[in-house]
Amino acid sequence: MRISIYAAGLLAAACVAVLGGCKPADDAPHAAAHAAVLPKPAVVQVAQVVTPSAPASPALTPAAQVGAKLFFDPSLSGSGKMSCATCHDPNHAYAPANNLSVQLGGKDGKQPGTRAVPTLMYKEYTNAYSDTFENPDMISAPGPGGGLTWDGRANTIAEQAAIPLLAPNEMAADSKAAVVDAVRRGVHAEAFRQAYGANVFDDTERAFSLVGAALQAFQVEDRSFHPYSSKFDRYRTNKVGGALTDAELRGLRVFLDPNKGNCMACHLIGGGNDGSQDMTSDYSFAAIGVPRNREIPANADPKYFDLGLCGPLRTDHRPGRDKGAKETCGMFKTPVLRNVATRQAFMHNGVFHALEDVVRFYNTRDTAPQTWYPSDGKGRVNKYDDLPAQYRANLDEQMPLDQRRAGSKTPMTDAETQDLIAFLKTLTDGFVPPANAAQPANTVANAAAEFAAEHGAHAVKSK
Ligand code: HEC
Ligand code: HEC
Repeated sequence: MRISIYAAGLLAAACVAVLGGCKPADDAPHAAAHAAVLPKPAVVQVAQVVTPSAPASPALTPAAQVGAKLFFDPSLSGSGKMSCATCHDPNHAYAPANNLSVQLGGKDGKQPGTRAVPTLMYKEYTNAYSDTFENPDMISAPGPGGGLTWDGRANTIAEQAAIPLLAPNEMAADSKAAVVDAVRRGVHAEAFRQAYGANVFDDTERAFSLVGAALQAFQVEDRSFHPYSSKFDRYRTNKVGGALTDAELRGLRVFLDPNKGNCMACHLIGGGNDGSQDMTSDYSFAAIGVPRNREIPANADPKYFDLGLCGPLRTDHRPGRDKGAKETCGMFKTPVLRNVATRQAFMHNGVFHALEDVVRFYNTRDTAPQTWYPSDGKGRVNKYDDLPAQYRANLDEQMPLDQRRAGSKTPMTDAETQDLIAFLKTLTDGFVPPANAAQPANTVANAAAEFAAEHGAHAVKSK
């Protein structure tokens, strides 16, 4: 993520391969398969609602089937009222249905969280966290990357499940044993035994980790978590209905252009790890200095700072104690942008509630900081008010957040930000093309070639 990549070249290379094996879409067999392979009820509901145009999941393994049940099961929580789906709602791209910055949980359902709830979609290619993660762009130097949650502190989706199950302000189960007990006494006990063996409940520690394994199997196997049914996917695979409008196409170029949006330097489009494509994250971490969110109760304490990689939730990069920790303060994981237009709270602290504000923030954080940060009364803007001064050297300096002077020209014009938003909306799954839709006239290969002709392949200076 340090160095902007040869955007056009990469995109072109990715697409030649795609286009080579490409046929026009034919959704009829998918629709038939959808009807024929209907899995268990919870899964059916998920698949139908979230991804109307996606193919059905192939039959889920027994682990994933019981995982689906546990995902919607409130009996695992301390209150008996909260399930994973309470915060990760399948009708909202597995993010919250409301627009709160942080959700309320705990035994009484009133304990506020400290972070916005991410989508659970397109997490299946997330590798374990590493301080020296190989960036999938294959150009950036290794750096912090991978892992689940905003600070990457869970290495696998399975491991991650333990966090909400036991957090006092989330599902608030008393202990691992309480969770295992709930499964043993609950209606899914038999399914759990079928998946993991008749004696699975004998070893509490193991059974608890298998609850996580089942939840992971569901999230990895069920197509509702990765349907690849957005307009952008149609465009990338040259399918009927995938023709982007002129505005969307201009927005894509702004996204790719190292001198404008440069979004793709972190929100990777193109080949990712393990054969993935267009995940819209390179899983790197960056400090971009988002404003402090005063709606979060924890922030009432002026000494409290959520510093991402260096804590307090993550505890293995403590400044002054762990080597290299100070350099990681303020860094959060680059989120996946698929389905981002459906979100109602953005950034790790949910400080923004409209996609338009996020894009405006990227464009004017430096040119008009007073728009985003409070002033001290003497007319001085307290820029980066959620990152203590000693960590501001960690701020990323790539476009569009290159720390240009206040009052100078913005990286993007207003029209370009509108185009960019139009493009981001093409990343929403469940796209239903209009009747008689044509095949894309502008294929990605064309766009990339055009882009390369205009700009040449060039890298932006690293920090
Ligand atoms: C009270 C709301 C709430 C509940 C209930 C909840 N989560 Fe989450 N989930 C969150 C928040 C907040 C985060 C971000 C946590 C962080 O960054 O520290 C998150 C993050 C995640 C992530 C990581 C996603 C990413 O982008 O890295 C996964 C996976 C996940 N949750 C799965 C689950 C599962 C499985 C359950 C049920 C066992 C569950 N969650 C229950 C709020 C919730
Ligand atoms: C230097 C890497 C980098 C660049 C360049 C970058 N982003 Fe981000 N993006 C991030 C990180 C890191 C976050 C999370 C920051 C946080 O929560 O503190 C983020 C968050 C977001 C979010 C919020 C998503 C959510 O689920 O809350 C959106 C939307 C977004 N970026 C869009 C863009 C767009 C559009 C561009 C180009 C104009 C862009 N980003 C450029 C790294 C980057």
